[in-house]
Amino acid sequence: MINAKTRLYGLIGKPVEHSLSPVIHNALFKRYNINAVYLAFDVDDLESAVKGVKALGISGLNVTMPYKEQILEFLDELSEEARAIGSVNTVVNREGKLIGYNTDGIGALKALKRFTEVEGKRVLLLGAGGAGKAIAYTLSRLAKVVVLNRTERKAKELEKFGVKGGKLSKENLKRYLSWADIVINATSLGMNEDRSPIPKGLLRENLVVFDIVYSPLETNLLREAREVGCLTIDGLWMLIHQGAESFRLWTGVKPDVEFMRREALKGEKRSI
Ligand SMILES: NC(=O)c1ccc[n+]([C@@H]2O[C@H](COP(=O)([O-])OP(=O)(O)OC[C@H]3O[C@@H](n4cnc5c(N)ncnc54)[C@H](OP(=O)(O)O)[C@@H]3O)[C@@H](O)[C@H]2O)c1
Repeated sequence: MINAKTRLYGLIGKPVEHSLSPVIHNALFKRYNINAVYLAFDVDDLESAVKGVKALGISGLNVTMPYKEQILEFLDELSEEARAIGSVNTVVNREGKLIGYNTDGIGALKALKRFTEVEGKRVLLLGAGGAGKAIAYTLSRLAKVVVLNRTERKAKELEKFGVKGGKLSKENLKRYLSWADIVINATSLGMNEDRSPIPKGLLRENLVVFDIVYSPLETNLLREAREVGCLTIDGLWMLIHQGAESFRLWTGVKPDVEFMRREALKGEKRSI
């Protein structure tokens, strides 16, 4: 029941109306008997929105595009990852102080670890945008990582994390796909469209293929990888695991990720 003690959490971004986060987090509050609600806020003025979070005592936030980087300047403290990556997707209001975290990298790592070993593996990461940066930072600590990006400069900038950066070209794809154990698509290619960042002919059976794009659930890349016989991992697993980390930061509860996935899939059907 909503009453005077109900805590408020939310998502800020633009647009937010297709987000699955409200479905997932409200289901979790109910399941763990936590007196809280989660809403999506379509925000135009980020600075005023963050002031509002403090003024109203909103307990925590998720942050999505286009504000993951811009929000840093309005926060009181940053976690080590958020500072290194330069991007925040989770905010905790700790007694009036807003603390920024980034759970994208750990979310991707946990998604991968459900299906495969990661330590010491050779990882080819496509994309050096917000998500690519977070994944490069996290995986660089335990695997050998090559990052290819359309804008080569952004891939090279990630060399500060100890990865190797290069241009996303057909030649580099061919070279590094024959080297890699795991390939991750962190570009937006394939999101609600038929394109894939990898020509089917370059895929081979013993490759693990992880696409962080989760709409559609089976992207073109994942379908072709499945047809070739690769182990495939969809982006909903990352969405779930990064959300689980946010939930833990807010409430101290480590949620049931299988439950979260079931709720997200139900929510997805409702929104179609
Ligand atoms: N599963 C999850 O939990 C999760 C979490 C975060 C994001 N995502 C998804 O991951 C994707 C990337 O998100 P983001 O936040 O990193 O976005 P972003 O910061 O805008 O980065 C977009 C990335 O895609 C590349 N790209 C875009 N169009 C391309 C094209 N035509 N050819 C080659 N590369 C292209 C960009 O390359 P340039 O640098 O050259 O522009 C950049 O590397 C989105 O689809 C998003 O929905 C999923």
